Amino acid sequence: MSATDLPPFAPEWLALREDADARARSREPVGLIGDRGRVIADLGCGSGSLGRWLAPRLPSPQHWVLFDRDPRLLAMAEHGVPGATTETRRCDLASLRATDLAGCTLVAASALLDVLTRPAVDALAGAVVDAGCPALFSLTVAGRVELDPADPLDGAVARAFDAHQRRAGLLGPDAVEAARAAFAERGVATRTFPSPWRLGPDEGELLAAWLRGWVGAAQEQDPALPAAAYLERRSAQCSRGALSAVVHHTDLWADPAGGP
Ligand SMILES: C[S@@+](CC[C@H](N)C(=O)[O-])C[C@H]1O[C@@H](n2cnc3c(N)ncnc32)[C@H](O)[C@@H]1O
Repeated sequence: MSATDLPPFAPEWLALREDADARARSREPVGLIGDRGRVIADLGCGSGSLGRWLAPRLPSPQHWVLFDRDPRLLAMAEHGVPGATTETRRCDLASLRATDLAGCTLVAASALLDVLTRPAVDALAGAVVDAGCPALFSLTVAGRVELDPADPLDGAVARAFDAHQRRAGLLGPDAVEAARAAFAERGVATRTFPSPWRLGPDEGELLAAWLRGWVGAAQEQDPALPAAAYLERRSAQCSRGALSAVVHHTDLWADPAGGP
């Protein structure tokens, strides 16, 4: 499987995680945007979750240019950014150019970098720098998960999951460092901000779905793992409200015009 053959992201999954994403996003980079949040390119917009969170935090009027390769998600995002005008661009972000960002004053993306390859992240950084826009890449997986209570198999599942995320040349937990390096090569410093999901009994449905996906991917990567018994154990704790998880993410800010 190549990176371009990855299955589409289910709108149901994006909807289930939207509230946890909103709580996790760092507020700090929003303060760095200043008056540059007028024409926003949302790369890998999905159903428009980032716009629903960010648009009310930026001055009006705003225009959002929504980029994604999935036409179904683009159709949802088109009418999903409150108080802003929108336009959609169906494209493969791996071949994004600065000209695609012409007229944009801010590049934003959420939960995107880790599902891209190193060349795609490099091209993206090049396009952002050539366009001269500041960029906020939020909610990139950090490759660190803390489960409470701990289980002896946690580490093995986490390692197998991270290896699965790196399949087909995808960056997974290496994405933030790759993006920082890509900007640094172009003379642009970056800042990072923690944006962890904190999932407990109040987020039981998301925690259960995340667990199934996390363990399922680990098992696909390493069929020798006793994953079924582990998932059964963890799911039982989850349904009793006796499990919590911190899934670490990172928000990344890059500003070619003025440094961080
Ligand atoms: C994990 S989802 C995040 C969606 C949304 N930003 C959010 O936070 O809910 C990743 C999104 O990036 C899009 N995507 C991934 N790789 C892409 C590529 N190479 N070109 C265009 N879109 C891509 C997917 O279709 C999906 O909508």
